[in-house]
Amino acid sequence: AHLWRGIIAEYHDRLPVDAERAVSLGEGGTPLVEAHAISERTGARVYLKVEGANPTGSFKDRGMTTAMTQVVAEGAELVVCASTGNTSASAAAYASAAGLGCAVILPAGKIAAGKLAQAVVHGATLLAVDGNFDDCLNLARALAKDYPAALVNSVNPYRLQGQKTAAFEIVDALGAPPDIHVLPVGNAGNISAYWLGYSEYAGRATAASMLPANDLPEAVTDRVPQMWGVQAAGAAPFVKGAPVEHPETVATAIRIGAPASWDLAAAARDDSGGRIDAVEDLEILEAQALLAAEAGVFVEPASAASVAGLLARAEAGEVPAGATVVCTVTGNGLKDTVTALAHHTGGHGELASEPIAADLPAVVRALG
Ligand code: F0G
Repeated sequence: AHLWRGIIAEYHDRLPVDAERAVSLGEGGTPLVEAHAISERTGARVYLKVEGANPTGSFKDRGMTTAMTQVVAEGAELVVCASTGNTSASAAAYASAAGLGCAVILPAGKIAAGKLAQAVVHGATLLAVDGNFDDCLNLARALAKDYPAALVNSVNPYRLQGQKTAAFEIVDALGAPPDIHVLPVGNAGNISAYWLGYSEYAGRATAASMLPANDLPEAVTDRVPQMWGVQAAGAAPFVKGAPVEHPETVATAIRIGAPASWDLAAAARDDSGGRIDAVEDLEILEAQALLAAEAGVFVEPASAASVAGLLARAEAGEVPAGATVVCTVTGNGLKDTVTALAHHTGGHGELASEPIAADLPAVVRALG
């Protein structure tokens, strides 16, 4: 049997880090699940790349293994990041595995409880800032510039290098790239990373490549997918065409108004013939509920934006019949149970009221 060894060991010939000294928690190798309920609704063949199955419950682990491996090689003792929650959870875990200190700069009151708990239990120093993610990223950059702290946000190029491996896994699993790849867009690192991965598998370098085109390993495909990004309507700078000063959305992971990887993401969209659209918060919550109730996959709100976007485009007749579509669902639903339960219970968040008697007739009665 083949045991998955983490993305650095599995794809070492395509990654610019020392595989002998990898800081790894066994990330990657995540399920690619065919979602029949979504296929039926869209007329396409839809798969979910379930990134919530990573060690800390989100896709960030793919980038954190490479970034942490590199900063350890460069002799860092402290890492810093800004985060809407998942990056901080991942950075805290990988820093603890590497024996490094970790400081996380967070927008106060806007981090889902599960993610906050992860940063705390992994021993990070939490700095809750009276500001949004964009303010936090500016602070993290400034700190890393003037103090001995290594920045592990996705502006660190090693992050995208690791995250590109999700595209490799999809092509390896399907035997070819999908026709369309859909994913949520926040700080815009992940869409840039997937485009990098798909392009490199097709033998093409992109602006995010760390190897020149003629040094890339041999191509394994001659195609690339269209990249479709999805933002929350209250935090949709790409749709507006300019930064959003006060981003707001229930999907706190993508509550970002000034994406750092703007140019790379715009290139991914344009060079792939793709698009970046917005969906309303209610569409996000309904897609989250649909995925849980009909596909068996519980994702966090930001992750459901990908599926909400696909459903909206299908509704508009813009999804070609029979197309192969992969939606990345970026984070685990357990990270933010409060939002999911609030939607499920129509706002009040309370589950079934009184306990029933501990006897079979009572159980049968309760089942109706
Ligand atoms: N989905 C989830 C669950 C996320 O946590 C993020 C980003 C995204 C999508 C968007 O990815 O930023 O690469 O466009 N979370 C970052 C964080 C910002 O701090 O955890 P992106």
